[in-house]
Amino acid sequence: NDVSAPALIQPANDRSVAAAGARLRTGQLVAFATETVYGLGGDATNDRAVAAIFAAKGRPSFNPLIAHVADFDLIETLVQVDDRARALMKRFWPGPLTLVLPRAAHSPISLLASAGLDTIAIRMPDHDVARAIIRAAGRPIAAPSANRSGAVSPTTAAHVAESLGERAGLIIDGGPCRVGVESTVLDLSTPIPTLLRPGGITADQIEAVLGQKAQSAQADASAPKSPGMLESHYAPALAVRLNAEHAHAGEALLGFGAMDCTLNLSPTGDLEEAAAHLFAMMRALDRAPFTALAVAPIPEHGLGAAINDRLRRAAAPRS
Ligand code: TXA
Ligand code: MG
Repeated sequence: NDVSAPALIQPANDRSVAAAGARLRTGQLVAFATETVYGLGGDATNDRAVAAIFAAKGRPSFNPLIAHVADFDLIETLVQVDDRARALMKRFWPGPLTLVLPRAAHSPISLLASAGLDTIAIRMPDHDVARAIIRAAGRPIAAPSANRSGAVSPTTAAHVAESLGERAGLIIDGGPCRVGVESTVLDLSTPIPTLLRPGGITADQIEAVLGQKAQSAQADASAPKSPGMLESHYAPALAVRLNAEHAHAGEALLGFGAMDCTLNLSPTGDLEEAAAHLFAMMRALDRAPFTALAVAPIPEHGLGAAINDRLRRAAAPRS
């Protein structure tokens, strides 16, 4: 007979986990404990849920997110698993190792979650609460660290509440995180494994399983970038022209708001809807018979900043 709004933070139990699963299935967000840091979870197969994650974090750009799974059985419907990946999963999962693998054909993972890339980062967290919530949702869960952009990663439910407040939607308290730093990110989409982010599983531990040293991304002199900034970005094949009001001859026009265009990111001018459609629509227009891609102006507020960041990269001169 409690008619007040449910508390933002709820202890992990059968009831709160079921509620979390129900929220996730309807595209809403839930923050929850993993062994590394608290994650801000959303349905990884739902572009709108993933857009809501970026909006809640206030991220000025779309970093690709990790798809979290609870069980081994459906992984190959999401990503392509080779012998190296299989060996690492067997040894370190569940645990703080994220593998970047080629997207499976017909993978249901949102293109916004992978920032338009042909690869997907995937991991199985070693925390009963995280896995129970993923199972209750019945689908892979995209989850960046549950903090506002630029803030430190949260290792308690209280940290999440301080950083995100009501934006977290619901926080399932699974106690303080055991590892306390983010998972190791290993890129296996290339012949030589590349360590994109150091974390709970060390390079030596990975080498012991693979019988091969992973190259460190920082050691690559051609791309001296800081961890977390390492992801390459989906680049359209066609040239991109920004702030277009009309299509020129041969161009596809990607619209925003009420206008005449080839495809519309959001006819109502909703920036979360536009973010959800961005990568799928860019891909749909990046082909014959079009010879170039024109994009309507997008307002710079809210998720518009991240959309424009992505579009400016797409329109930048190619090297
Ligand atoms: O421990 C963790 O990994 C936590 C917990 C919540 O699971 N999650 C986390 O997510 O740290 P996030 O979004 O803050 O970091 C994901 C990292 C980023 O450095 C991102 O660039 C990289 O994974 N990443 C994701 N997908 C990628 C891809 N397809 N290619 C390369 N890097 C990718
Ligand atoms: Mg983070």
